[in-house]
Amino acid sequence: MSIKKLNIGIIGFGRIGQLHAQNIRRSIPEISISAVSDPFIEKSQAILENLEIPNSYLDYEELIAQKNIDAVLIASPHDTHTDIIKSACKANKHIFCEKPMSISSLDALSCKASLEHSGVKFQIGFNRRFDPTFSSMRKNIESGKIGDLRMVTILSADPAMPAKEYMKTSGHIGIFKDMSIHDFDMIRFLSGSEIEEVTATAAMLCSANKAGKAEFGNLDSAYTVIKLKSGALGMIQNCREAVFGYDQRAEVLGSLGMLSCENEYPSAVHIFRKEAHSREPVQYFFLERYAKAYVNELHAFAQALLQDTKPLLGFEDALAALLAAEAAERSLKERRPVKISEILPSS
Ligand SMILES: NC(=O)c1ccc[n+]([C@@H]2O[C@H](COP(=O)([O-])OP(=O)(O)OC[C@H]3O[C@@H](n4cnc5c(N)ncnc54)[C@H](O)[C@@H]3O)[C@@H](O)[C@H]2O)c1
Repeated sequence: MSIKKLNIGIIGFGRIGQLHAQNIRRSIPEISISAVSDPFIEKSQAILENLEIPNSYLDYEELIAQKNIDAVLIASPHDTHTDIIKSACKANKHIFCEKPMSISSLDALSCKASLEHSGVKFQIGFNRRFDPTFSSMRKNIESGKIGDLRMVTILSADPAMPAKEYMKTSGHIGIFKDMSIHDFDMIRFLSGSEIEEVTATAAMLCSANKAGKAEFGNLDSAYTVIKLKSGALGMIQNCREAVFGYDQRAEVLGSLGMLSCENEYPSAVHIFRKEAHSREPVQYFFLERYAKAYVNELHAFAQALLQDTKPLLGFEDALAALLAAEAAERSLKERRPVKISEILPSS
């Protein structure tokens, strides 16, 4: 089923739905946005007009029923993803789904048959794989620049706790499935190996939680130690509040050397004064830090559809990250290392 130009419908028009819409309009000419669906779409009328999006629906089923739509981009809260995926499969619409694919691995697995039988293409929104810095790290590892990979360390912190509304609708599924999910995928991506075992510890340390203000507060800081099938080790540091901005660093140690990447800045300027050397603050959050990655991932999705090839990442990647998150949750609860095979006995 080859397509000439991709007509897409966006389901969920909040932070990331709007960002994708803007990126498509500005930078991805091979995609056109036919419609948007959101139960609160009236709040976004001005943006719809500005982006010249012709149709909007309160109910995503109406959007999915539109014959001219080839694919849906799911950017609604986590707990809506599974039903939308199944419904899109029934209507033969290709799917780009924001992370996490589902709120549990069981839910994700319940979509497997629909995805396989319908034959629709599915891409999960692990945008960091499309970031020029992280993809360069992967290329250097793959080409053997640092020899045999031994240790992968990821440091990932948000600048501030999410808004209460986000915590209510999406963040409540917990730090491992909401936030570390990107980092589980990044460890798999950089190492090229599957996760075998997870050991996690976490705490409530951020100011909103400490002040008891976070009505829907949950664990906000975590360390996760990973054993990979290759024998290499991984470590993820997550925190929902880094006061200086979006902390996104990684370091990979191999038998022949080391790769590291630092945070990115709005400009390359260094300020040298008698008393100190300084720079502007690091990029504030995901919209700035991963601006290129968001464009690249949708460009890749469009190319897979237009050229009828398999998306670069899909269901198995979405599931693997969810399984790692569930292993981390169990490890925290039972205070022990947890194998992925305990979560999904057949893996
Ligand atoms: N890849 C990334 O870097 C990244 C960044 C942010 C968010 N996300 C993911 O994107 C999704 C949305 O997050 P967000 O930050 O944009 O949240 P958000 O709360 O800003 O937006 C969600 C939108 O979905 C709408 N919505 C609620 N129920 C709906 C339904 N049944 N059908 C259609 N729309 C519905 C809401 O009204 C809201 O406008 C989440 O899964 C989140 O994890 C990914």
